[in-house]
Amino acid sequence: MKRMLSGIKPTGQLHLGNYIGALKNFVNYQDEYEMFAFIANLHCITTAQDPNELQKNLKDCVALYLACGLDPNKATIFLQTDIKAQAQLGYIICCHTYMGELNRMTQFKDKMAKNETNLSGGLYTYPALMAADILIYDPDYVPVGDDQKQHVELTRDLAERFNNKYGELFKVPEPLISKVGARIMSLSDPSKKMSKSDDNDKGCVYLLDDLNVAKKKVMSAVTDSLANVKYDPINQPGISNLIQIYSSLSNNMPYAEIEKMFEGKGYGDFKKAVSEKVCETLSDIQEKYNNIINSDILEKTLNDGATKANLIAEEKLKKVQKALGMEIL
Ligand code: TYM
Repeated sequence: MKRMLSGIKPTGQLHLGNYIGALKNFVNYQDEYEMFAFIANLHCITTAQDPNELQKNLKDCVALYLACGLDPNKATIFLQTDIKAQAQLGYIICCHTYMGELNRMTQFKDKMAKNETNLSGGLYTYPALMAADILIYDPDYVPVGDDQKQHVELTRDLAERFNNKYGELFKVPEPLISKVGARIMSLSDPSKKMSKSDDNDKGCVYLLDDLNVAKKKVMSAVTDSLANVKYDPINQPGISNLIQIYSSLSNNMPYAEIEKMFEGKGYGDFKKAVSEKVCETLSDIQEKYNNIINSDILEKTLNDGATKANLIAEEKLKKVQKALGMEIL
């Protein structure tokens, strides 16, 4: 069975972009692949967090993994901090990552461009830790949204660098980016990606949003004046984003079919249909979440996941340290 690994940062609440671009795919793949899904609770502190809020988001994130359909009997679900070897390999990989490479990473460059102050060293070296998160488990594929592709490509370069210098140490993984929904855009500004750090709350539907709030967000999504439900991301980015959301939440219904369904209808009708799809999805997730959040399944899931992940990660770290001449025995 081929192996797959991915993770999500518990910074803020998980949103529809995380679900469509990542989490939903983890769930679909868990039958076909050996799935490792972790919660990146080291990556999330690369930007300042309120400890109480972070703890709540962290717990919600694990509960949402399960509520969205990840099955702990199939997938290995764990916290990044429970696998110490991951951070240790992160340091080793960081020492093999060039500053030029880190300077080119768009996520860091974007923050620099916005003149944000007090950017942390952790934020800068983040891609090296992400490479370690991946390479330590030798996955074949890394399912992510479009915005993480550059990080997975750097991971591939780093794996090859290690393999060329020290002998075969890592499998070179491939990013897996779905055709539909790899970049869900903000509802209030379809030129920007839907993001937890969006200043405008209206643009982002959170998985735990009250259904009325979610409905309002979709109904007030920015569109255009062309009055034509058509997938044309250049000229109709808002409508195209809604088509993408509708398609993804309807088993990837072809865009042409959606266009046909709404031919001659107004944007109001289309938005209503999208909001119904979104609310159906959220309602199902929230019902499961409510049953899970205070049960002891969370602790058991994380303990079992950490035990399994640690076995693999520790062995790989040892192999790497040996190859680098860092071990005596
Ligand atoms: P994060 O937490 O920002 O996002 C988690 C996943 O959600 C996807 N995503 C989106 N997909 C579609 N549309 C959007 N608007 C949208 N916003 C986010 C992301 O592409 C991602 O797949 N660095 C990672 C976490 C990470 C990781 C890893 C992932 C750490 N180590 C190792 C894979 C493998 C991140 O910040 O994702």
